[in-house]
Amino acid sequence: MKSSIRIFKSQHELALTMAGDIVSRIRASANRERPFSIALSGGSTPEKLYSALGTHYSNQIPWDFVYLFWGDERCVPPDSPDSNYGMAKRLLIDGAGLPAANVFRIRGEDDPSIEAARYSCEITALLRNRDGFPVFDLILLGMGGDGHTASIFPRHSHLLSSNRICAVAEHPETGQRRITLTGKTINNAEAVAFIITGQGKAHLVHSIVRRLPGAGAYPASFIKPVYGSLDWYLDEEAGSLVVDKQAPSGSNGLISTIR
Ligand code: 6PG
Repeated sequence: MKSSIRIFKSQHELALTMAGDIVSRIRASANRERPFSIALSGGSTPEKLYSALGTHYSNQIPWDFVYLFWGDERCVPPDSPDSNYGMAKRLLIDGAGLPAANVFRIRGEDDPSIEAARYSCEITALLRNRDGFPVFDLILLGMGGDGHTASIFPRHSHLLSSNRICAVAEHPETGQRRITLTGKTINNAEAVAFIITGQGKAHLVHSIVRRLPGAGAYPASFIKPVYGSLDWYLDEEAGSLVVDKQAPSGSNGLISTIR
């Protein structure tokens, strides 16, 4: 597994550079006349990233070649403030020239079990298959303060070992039902990229990246693409325990790259 850790001076510089990297991946795929499948993360961290893709970079992206999916969704209607789709629609989709036919949202308003099965079938029909699982070109992930990723929460390890493509999950504190890609689907991607910011997650990032004892309690530590790459895009705070010393930042705010 190829991996990299990049730490940026600011969330703004992180978002712009990560968006630029995603644009490069999309354009490389389009140059080969191949659609590019990307599964978006939810939560608040990626908002600057989606805004950069939907505005700053929008005119550089061959949107016809982009197939947009979600790594997880809350079981709420699309117009709910909790909806991951709703956030991406506001920041990315509405500003982009993305054909509606290329947007494959999880229908959070529908019965969770039925929708998990439907979404699994939709993904299977659209993406190539490897080892019994669909192959996403890129899956974006965040990480919660408890080490969850997508909607795979601690003590829900069955979602890491499941042979399903999607499954129903439940937030351990709120009880909110979610639909999530499973760990095996995520680890079958060509590329997985974490976007994590904030001092509050620095200890988790450090524990997982350095494979410290106890990291196994965090579902994010099980994200290890079998064939693909794993990249960590961190701001200075989230990466503060990973780098020993703060190097002067480069032109794009890049402080450190660890491979
Ligand atoms: C979700 C996400 C989830 C998120 C983390 C981090 O639906 O909430 O997919 O995995 O990425 O909880 O959320 P923040 O970016 O808001 O810290």
